[in-house]
Amino acid sequence: MPVSAIRAEGVSMDFGSLRVLHGINVDVSEGEVVAVLGPSGSGKSTLLRCLSWLTPPTEGAVYLQGERLGVAVAPDGRQSRLSAAKLARQRSRIGMVFQSFNLWPHLTVLGNITEGPVQVLGLRPGEARERAMTILETVGLAAKASAYPATLSGGQQQRVAIARALAMQPELLLFDEPTSSLDPELVGEVLDVIELLAARRTTMVVVTHEIAFASEAATRVIFMDGGRIVEDTLPATFFRDPAEERSRRFLERTLRRYAQFGSHRSAEG
Ligand SMILES: Nc1ncnc2c1ncn2[C@@H]1O[C@H](COP(=O)(O)OP(=O)(O)O)[C@@H](O)[C@H]1O
Ligand SMILES: [Mg+2]
Repeated sequence: MPVSAIRAEGVSMDFGSLRVLHGINVDVSEGEVVAVLGPSGSGKSTLLRCLSWLTPPTEGAVYLQGERLGVAVAPDGRQSRLSAAKLARQRSRIGMVFQSFNLWPHLTVLGNITEGPVQVLGLRPGEARERAMTILETVGLAAKASAYPATLSGGQQQRVAIARALAMQPELLLFDEPTSSLDPELVGEVLDVIELLAARRTTMVVVTHEIAFASEAATRVIFMDGGRIVEDTLPATFFRDPAEERSRRFLERTLRRYAQFGSHRSAEG
């Protein structure tokens, strides 16, 4: 049996009277790279935020390596909210990368990457720096260790944000449209890093509009629409023969856009 890295059971999310997630069930095994696709407003970001308990869902449960997120369950079965400290510790096991990089402007690249490991994990500064440098090699930015974020391109800043997430040695990484705010010519360098992590069998859930990435690097595709998972299948199946009419329409629209503007990868040459 593959080990479940993260599992959602009946996750629903309401904003006021608006239900934006409808009883989502999803189970991501270790080493899987799941691409989450779907039209704007379909609930992709909300799902990621619920999976990481950044936004506790209205209903349902999430399990990280089998451990219930955000909720303490007593031996008699009674449930209570987990303490803030315990929740923070759980959440530190999940790496998140957003569309906006959210780096500290007053810290160098190295400072941004070592902060979490020192503050949250209690690593000694030297140890954290060593770890950060190894990861900066991986993302191709060792030369930028003492640079400030403002001096970097968007693609470089996003690679620093990925390095910062990796420095926590998370059990899985969640990406929310990591390349959507980048100029087209910078998308490739960020996707290359994510593909490298995929090749290393890092467990990842990646919300993306990059169809080429989803079809080549993902091991699985989830297509969402209207707060529901409409398809959950192999990339080859989804792209060649989607089961649902809604997926078909989405693909047609997306491919038309591709034909119009070209894929970022081909722009790269
Ligand atoms: N904080 C919020 N308050 C109210 N409505 C929200 C909030 N966040 C998201 N929504 C709504 O939830 C739905 C899903 O949003 P979202 O998860 O951001 O979709 P996606 O990431 O697929 O574009 C949308 O209708 C959006 O307007
Ligand atoms: Mg979104």
